[in-house]
Amino acid sequence: MDIVPLDFAAEPGRAAGYHALAADAMAPGPRMPAHLFRLVAERGWRAMPAENWLAVDDDRVVGGVTVHLPDRDNTHLALIRFLQVDPGHRRRGVGGALLSHVAERARAHDRSTMLVEVAEGGPGEAFVRAKGAREVATQARRVLDLSTFDVPEREIPGYRLEFLRGRTPDPQIADMAALLEIMNDAPLDDLPVDEERWTAADVAALEDAWTSIHQDVFTVVARAGDGSAAAFTRLFADTREPAGWARQTDTAVRRDHRGRGLGLWVKEANTAWLKRARPDLTRVITWNAVSNGPMVAINERLGYRLLDVWHEWELRA
Ligand SMILES: CC(C)(COP(=O)(O)OP(=O)(O)OC[C@H]1O[C@@H](n2cnc3c(N)ncnc32)[C@H](O)[C@@H]1OP(=O)(O)O)[C@@H](O)C(=O)NCCC(=O)NCCS
Repeated sequence: MDIVPLDFAAEPGRAAGYHALAADAMAPGPRMPAHLFRLVAERGWRAMPAENWLAVDDDRVVGGVTVHLPDRDNTHLALIRFLQVDPGHRRRGVGGALLSHVAERARAHDRSTMLVEVAEGGPGEAFVRAKGAREVATQARRVLDLSTFDVPEREIPGYRLEFLRGRTPDPQIADMAALLEIMNDAPLDDLPVDEERWTAADVAALEDAWTSIHQDVFTVVARAGDGSAAAFTRLFADTREPAGWARQTDTAVRRDHRGRGLGLWVKEANTAWLKRARPDLTRVITWNAVSNGPMVAINERLGYRLLDVWHEWELRA
């Protein structure tokens, strides 16, 4: 067995082998289409350096791992994604060899800490415990059945909603960068991460990526009477292989506008819009820190139900 780098563009056969192993990594959540998997593996949502390594046995892909190397903030971290071993090749040291390899790569890039997300109770958890990892955060996935979602339209005095499908228009892009920075207020538990800074150029790079991987993106922004952006929320749906799923991502309310129901309001309005605009979709999935009481309460009110629990683990590189 060899550990070799993967170049997605030059090695489509091996890339397909890695995708076949990793596509269902998030089951029972949505399967990752190949175009989405490749973008996340090659650069992550925020366009950061990444490396992909495969375990190859007799020219067959039997394992793989992606490592993201943040270069604007959190430069002490190496983020491990999609560490997977073919079920027929487990408990033979392949996973351990891939992990040792990425630890070496992390050190080569001056990273002190590796983070990895693992489903509770599965083989990944036994594996990271055996490797001496420390648990640093707990997240839950919840799913909303869109057929049961039915809320009347309503107003909140002093605010108006803005509906954006696809890229943020240039005049609003600075507002979007500021809204994304509010996500730094979400609880981190024990995660050793620094705040993420967003510039207009970062937002443009992120949103350019959507188009290249066939994402239909629904954003609702709540604006205060003076026109300032007070809250936002986002839903993503694939246009090629949605398989009935949408993904709920960021939601944030500016500190001075909290406690007025804006978080629930923007999510209700966006979900209702998605349901009207994309009748092919049946379910929405979301992730939250278990410790994020306000967001979890909003999701439960919207009708989201618990799917499973994941833990984030820290390993020294
Ligand atoms: C987790 C995973 C990558 C491990 O790959 P692997 O090649 O089987 O791992 P290794 O053979 O190197 O295992 C190293 C040690 O981890 C522990 N371990 C691994 N799988 C285990 C399991 N199912 N139950 C209990 N202990 C386990 C053992 O201590 C093992 O050493 P041992 O076999 O000498 O007892 C593999 O099970 C997998 O792909 N799981 C699904 C994806 C996943 O959970 N990924 C997240 C990984 S962080």
